[in-house]
Order: sequence, then C-alpha cells, then structure tokens
Amino acid sequence: MELTISTQPPQSVPVDCLALPLFEKQPIADSPLAALDDKMGGVIAELQETKEVKGKSGESTYLFDPLWVEAHRILALGCGKTHKFTLRDVQTYAGKAARHARSKGHDSLGLVLSLPPEVDLESTAVWRVAAESVALALYEGDQYKEKPEERSLDSLVLVGVEGESALLEEAARQGLVIGTAANITRNLVNTPGNDLPPTVMAERAEAIAMEYDLHFEALDREAMEELGMGSLLGVTLGSHQEPRLIILTYEPEGKPKSKDVLALVGKGITFDTGGISLKPSKSMEKMKYDMAGGAAVLGAMAAIGQLKPDLKVMGVVPAVENMPGGGAQRPGDVRKAASGKTIEIINTDAEGRLILADALWYAREQLDATHMVDLATLTGAVSIALGNVFIGLMGNDQPFIEKVMAAGARSGERHWQLPLDDEYKKQLKSDIADLKNVGGPKAGTITAGYFLKEFADPIPWAHMDIAGTGWMDSGKSHLASGGTGVGVRTLVNLAMGWK
Ligand code: BES
Ligand code: MN
Ligand code: ZN
Repeated sequence: MELTISTQPPQSVPVDCLALPLFEKQPIADSPLAALDDKMGGVIAELQETKEVKGKSGESTYLFDPLWVEAHRILALGCGKTHKFTLRDVQTYAGKAARHARSKGHDSLGLVLSLPPEVDLESTAVWRVAAESVALALYEGDQYKEKPEERSLDSLVLVGVEGESALLEEAARQGLVIGTAANITRNLVNTPGNDLPPTVMAERAEAIAMEYDLHFEALDREAMEELGMGSLLGVTLGSHQEPRLIILTYEPEGKPKSKDVLALVGKGITFDTGGISLKPSKSMEKMKYDMAGGAAVLGAMAAIGQLKPDLKVMGVVPAVENMPGGGAQRPGDVRKAASGKTIEIINTDAEGRLILADALWYAREQLDATHMVDLATLTGAVSIALGNVFIGLMGNDQPFIEKVMAAGARSGERHWQLPLDDEYKKQLKSDIADLKNVGGPKAGTITAGYFLKEFADPIPWAHMDIAGTGWMDSGKSHLASGGTGVGVRTLVNLAMGWK
C-alpha cells in the first residue's frame, strides 16, 4: 500500500473513497470541513440539522458520487465528543474507514485528519496512529482459509492542513512501519502450535533479522545447559520440541548518544498445556497465544530495524513448548536457575516465569542490558483484575515504569501499574528452595511479577502482563479477531523516544 500526504483541500483529493470525521454538537459548517460540505451542496449540514446524523461514535454515513467533489464516495464517520476524542478513537476512525473502503472494493482511500481545535491531541501522534491503524485494520488472520481476503487498498492518502507537512509525513511513515510490524506479531500469534514450535519461531526470527538488518543468534539446548539454565530447561522436558533462546540485536550506525542497552524480553511458550499440572480442555486451544510476548518482541525488532533509534536494542525470546510427557518435570521438583537461585516447582503450569527467569538473567548478565522490559501472557489473574482493556504493568524502578507507560500512551496502548511491594515476597517462600514458583490464589499477577523481579534486579526493569490484552475472541469493526499485536507499539515508542 502506497502512502501519500495531501495538503490539498479535501474536496480536491482524487480518491475512490474519502473518509471524514464528524463530531457531536459540531456543525460541519463551523468545522475545518465547511468548504467540503459546501461542494456537496451542504448535504451533511442538512443531515445534521434534521438530526439524522449526530456524530455519535459508531455512526456512519455513506454518500454516493458527490457532484463537485473529486472523491467518488464520502464516508462520514461519527467520532463522538471532541473533548473525549483519544488516540484510540483515531484508531477506530482510521481502521473502520480502511475496512469499509476495502469491503466496497475501492483501491484508494483518503483519510481526512484535520480535526477541530477542541480535540486535545498532538497532530504527529494522530498521523502516526492513523497510519498504524490502517495497517492493523487491513490484516486478516485467514492464511489457513481456502479463500483468504485478496482485496487490499493500493493507496492511502492522508489529508490535512498545510504547514507542518514534513513532520506529519514522517510520523505517518513511522506509523505504517509500526502497524505492519504489529501484523508480523499477529501472524505469529495466530499460527497454531503445530506450525510454530520453538525451532520454527527461531527461523522466523532469523528471517526478520535478514530482512531488517538485525543480528540473529539462537542458543540450543546444549548452549543453555552450559549456562546452567535449569529453570528454563525444566519446562522443556515434557516436549519433543527442541527449545531455543532467540537473540536479535539492533546496533545504531555510528556512536549512539546513549550508552544504554535496552533488552526486550518476551515469553515464547509456543503452546502451553500446563505440563503435568495439566490445564482443563476448555479453551486450551487458545494457549497457542502463549508466545504473544515473544512475538511482540520480534515484531518490535522488525520495526526498530527500520526506524533506527539511537540506542542499542536487543530482543530476547525464550521459545519453549510446555507439554506433559514421560520426561516432564513434576510438581515438587527443585530446579536451579542460571542466577544460582533454586526454585521449587509447585505447579508446572506456572512455566512462563520459569523461562523468563533465565532469559532475564541472560539479558542482564550476558548481554549487558542496562534496562529491560519483558512482555508475557503470564497470568489468567490479570484478566480478572483488568479484563481485556489494560496491560498489567509492574517493575522495580518507578521512573522507568513511567517511561514505559508514557510510551504506550503515545499509541493508545494502556497500562495499569500494580504494586510490587516486598510484602508479597513471603507468598513465594519455599521450605526447601530459595523460591517456589507460585504464590497462592491471592494477587496472582503480582506474585508472578515478584518472582520475575528476583531475576531482573538490580537493573531497571518493567514487566507487562499481556494475558488479558494479547488475544481478542471476536473481531471489531476496525480489527480482526485473534492476536492483537499488543505491546509492539509500546516497545517501539519506548526505543524511539529514548533519552
Ligand atoms: N499462559 C498461562 C496464563 C494465561 C492464562 C494466559 C489464560 C492467557 C490466558 C500461564 O502459563 C499460566 O498457566 N498461569 C497460571 C499460573 C498459576 C498456575 C499460578 C494461571 O494463570 O492460572
Ligand atoms: Mn501455564
Ligand atoms: Zn503460559
């Protein structure tokens, strides 16, 4: 899809379909789109007067061949109240427009991005998110269908005001890269466990590295044994699939301003049966998305290879399948992590923290990371606390946690911080080992985070629990169901805005 920027008045933009936003209690005649409506003979103003069009969010009006306007179709989308309009509404607006235009077989879409002055959003963020959202909207997880969606938009024209166009264009180009990268993540997440065992996940990572100028490495079982990664390796024992520890490295050209090294660490359980602590069969098929954190790291690295932030960034993905089997680890087993700490395995289904323990240690000790963010579909408890709406965020360094949260906000990814207070530590106390791998039924998301902290300390680290946000059971008007690609935008914004 070709992206262009137009500073022409919207009525002169020659596209198949031109989408424009309408706001509640905002007559088009008093808006930046007054001239456009004039050219349409004042249709929208009239529909607003008769209250047929109110501008409520969810509303859409489709107009056919407006006489004095270059576009063949007009799609007016209700965007709600101006003072409530957020980047998430930009996502809905742009995404709906894109899916609508494609469903009608249009080749080109113009997206009007001049917003009323009451809207309190930075225009660069609006333009970046709009382009991101069009890419996200056009993704379908239908590669296994006999007839996958074949239509696509050839051309996207973002239509706005004159003046700052170079900056806005740059923002939109970044958005397109980020949205397309998040689709790489979604595609990996949607791929079933049989087609994406750890070795194949590593191959996909290698292909990403080749395409986007990153360095690729993957440790096999032997290499991990030598490093003493008993915590990670314990999880592999029930599976016939060989584990991998995937490492992608981005190095800025020339000397970066910052000596910091950012490690992005993602849980890559390619399928989670629970192991000997077997999960119930209801919805177990969804556990193919237990590598969504790892997939987000790979997607983010694809974008980082293209956008070239000014610091070294490493992606670290422990890829393991969690199966029951004759060799599988048992509840009650004690394993020794590479850091030297011993762990009593109470429940083999609390496996994400076990593989991340060694991956975080590796990023910190062997890759010399100065800062780490991990993403993991770690606990069912996070959806009890926050539903499918907010990412559960915690960490050991308040300024760093706030940086991560702010990076998410720049693309409309929402984080909610949970307290990693030392008082939770006693829930992880074991009688025979340094730690046990579950902290009981209370505060499950926090005790899982606290377990990770034991391996991430002392460097600044933040943990995103994306079990609630990484998967969508049903689609939305602007987004297909399945893997959401959550986290990619937070990670890329974090690296791009590094100071
Ligand atoms: N992958 C699961 C968490 C999960 C659950 C993700 C539902 C997405 C949807 C994780 O490995 C797990 O099984 N966690 C257990 C931990 C428990 C045994 C302490 C859980 O949340 O039940
Ligand atoms: Mn599990
Ligand atoms: Zn899991």
